[in-house]
Amino acid sequence: MARQAPLSPHPNHPEENTAELDERYLETVFYHNREYQQYAISNLSYLAPTDEDEIERLHIMHDVLSRTFDGRLIFPPLPRPRRILDCGYGTASWASEVAEQHPRCEVIGVDINPSMQPEEMPENLYLQVDDLNRRFTFPSHNFDLVHSQMMAPGIHSTRWRHYLQDIFRVTRGGGWCQMVELYFNVQSDNGSLTDAHALQQWSSRYLESMEGLKDLRVPLRLANLMRDAGFVDVEHRIIPLHTCGWSTDQREYEIGVANRENVQRLLSSMALYPFTERLGMPIQDAHLLIARARLEADNPAFKV
Ligand SMILES: C[S@@+](CC[C@H](N)C(=O)[O-])C[C@H]1O[C@@H](n2cnc3c(N)ncnc32)[C@H](O)[C@@H]1O
Repeated sequence: MARQAPLSPHPNHPEENTAELDERYLETVFYHNREYQQYAISNLSYLAPTDEDEIERLHIMHDVLSRTFDGRLIFPPLPRPRRILDCGYGTASWASEVAEQHPRCEVIGVDINPSMQPEEMPENLYLQVDDLNRRFTFPSHNFDLVHSQMMAPGIHSTRWRHYLQDIFRVTRGGGWCQMVELYFNVQSDNGSLTDAHALQQWSSRYLESMEGLKDLRVPLRLANLMRDAGFVDVEHRIIPLHTCGWSTDQREYEIGVANRENVQRLLSSMALYPFTERLGMPIQDAHLLIARARLEADNPAFKV
């Protein structure tokens, strides 16, 4: 997270600033029995499915993060936020809970894909469709907090510097930016996982499939990107997430158990399109690598 140095606020209504919802954003396409948003695939914006399975996975991931963060949604000190922006709201779990916790705050969510949003939402949550790979159209100094979570698979690798600059511009003086990313660096606590293992192969093939398109190592650069954009009081933490329940520490064990289902699904959902359509891997080989990686992720002996 990081803070904008204070400036005067510049309020504006949320619904004036982003693209109109049109049919283009609702068209879908199937690959290997998973449903994707056509627009995101055509523009290479986001290569993960957006079907019911993925909605469930994102709910599970939200639960894992809630446990990891001890139920805290917002980290910086923001006693009475008035406007919050959530970049890439997905299923809107985070945005909905924030809106419920802060009924006087306008929470604005932006996503390229409106299809994963819930049917019922708090009245102070406004969801809009826009592509975050384009420059922001929100006015400057507009939000108390800008939140961006798990956006590395969506933001183009060349866009990150400008993405942070845009976030800085729309954050009011004294406001904050909070970013959470998953870093796909599979490490075994007892060193038993080698390059020959499927989980390592899955990781390196996944990174390879996104080369020149997405920067999956961006979590390591976020603090510097924030500072370069002008944010001050930058704090960052790396928190290991276990792929199943193996820890002797009760809390970590429970988080591992909760994350197991997320990892089992993610190994398939994140990789299927990139492996087959970007790397040209035959679908049988992709299924086999994913199945072997799943077994290893689920094996407490590897302590991943
Ligand atoms: C992995 S999900 C994370 C969702 C949510 N932030 C969460 O933490 O559960 C990524 C989301 O970003 C959206 N997304 C990806 N690329 C995008 C882009 N260029 N512009 C807007 N939204 C994008 C996807 O549609 C998806 O809903």
